[in-house]
Amino acid sequence: MTAFGKEFREKYFPTGPQTVPINHGSYGLVPTPVIKKFHEHLDEDLAFPDKYIVFDYTPQLKANIARVAQLVDADPLDLVFCNNASTGVNTVLRSYPFQKGDKILMPSTVYDACGNTVKFLKNRYGIEILTLDLPYPLSDDEVVSKFKEVFEAEESNGNPVKLALFDTVVSMPGLRIPFERLIKLCKDHNVLSMVDGAHSIGLVKLSLKTLEPDFYTTNLHKWLYVPRGCALLYVNKKHHRSIHTFPVSHSYLADDEPLEETLEQSRLVDRFAFVGSSSFASFVSAIDAIEFRENVCGGEDAIADYCLRTAKEGGAKIAELWGTKVLENKEGSLTTSMVNVEAPIPSDLKEDFLRLCKTPKFVEKMRAYVDRIQVEEFHTYLPCCYHNGALWCRFSAQVYVDVDDFVYAANSFRKAFNRYLESDTFKVLLN
Ligand SMILES: Cc1ncc(COP(=O)(O)O)c(C=O)c1O
Repeated sequence: MTAFGKEFREKYFPTGPQTVPINHGSYGLVPTPVIKKFHEHLDEDLAFPDKYIVFDYTPQLKANIARVAQLVDADPLDLVFCNNASTGVNTVLRSYPFQKGDKILMPSTVYDACGNTVKFLKNRYGIEILTLDLPYPLSDDEVVSKFKEVFEAEESNGNPVKLALFDTVVSMPGLRIPFERLIKLCKDHNVLSMVDGAHSIGLVKLSLKTLEPDFYTTNLHKWLYVPRGCALLYVNKKHHRSIHTFPVSHSYLADDEPLEETLEQSRLVDRFAFVGSSSFASFVSAIDAIEFRENVCGGEDAIADYCLRTAKEGGAKIAELWGTKVLENKEGSLTTSMVNVEAPIPSDLKEDFLRLCKTPKFVEKMRAYVDRIQVEEFHTYLPCCYHNGALWCRFSAQVYVDVDDFVYAANSFRKAFNRYLESDTFKVLLN
């Protein structure tokens, strides 16, 4: 077997010799054999759509859902595919029958697109938003206690929280949160759980049968190596009637529309099988990606072990190189395949730079400058964000990455970042 790291990348990934991919967390990267299968599915559809869509697609879809169900330990009748985690979250939040004044709790680290969906509910339907500040590094106990405090405070006010939206792994900085414990906490407090597991399948172990959240979505196009446009939405059986497709389509049924017993069981999956013309090639590439992971990578555990080891080793090495630190808590539970290292800001500029980070759009504009140099000159891309008084760079380990790639990306980032700090664009802000 080809060893993981650069050699594995050259053999199985389409990157080419120049690019150093260190940002799997944003859009994933698909192995060449899976891309080939994806193209075959697309060709099969495009060659004879009447045959493919009417007859061949549905059995393929069901087989793919059944295979993915094994991986997340779920009943396939509780799972549907959608295009991405944003759609998963929107599908739930925009069809659940909320009442004006219902409270939705979300952490300050919520993914902004999903946070905006909640804002939409506030503006359109009068939902009340509670935002929980989570300044990391926090221990798992601290995170759970903070949610608990809000649930208890709102219960004692007589208007309890209706739904909590939280991640499995926060996007930026990339941090695992104790989502299993939060799901349990929600159950104990009769709060609906909407888990944004955009980063979860292929990254963290999951048993939806054990966890039984109310709603859970996860991207297959991030950590599972499926081409973009493929996510899973889990809906707990108690909500099958109230969750409707997004867009509402041919298959719509009112919440209270009765069905005979066997159709009732597949009520959710039948509704979601076709919600408008599209290409379904990524949905039916899930098995191909899972087979690549099993047959070529050696299985989920081999992938997880290598990525975690590389993230920890790489993170520590970069922190040493930069003279900074890794964002980690006392349990060491924040790092997954993603690890965050504090960026190297020269000491004479640090105070001013961090002050500017708190001003609107500064980080966004700085990143636009730095990221372009990283991509165009160094053929890599290390994302950074401001969080709790520091600038953090998020490195993603993967089977095609080794610690030398971390070093290359870190050195490239530092050069690009220093160029920004020396630029007139930055200097003018200091005056
Ligand atoms: C935590 C989190 N939620 C949701 C999303 C949205 O995923 P998508 O763009 O596939 O909808 C992302 C994307 O990076 C994410 O990191």
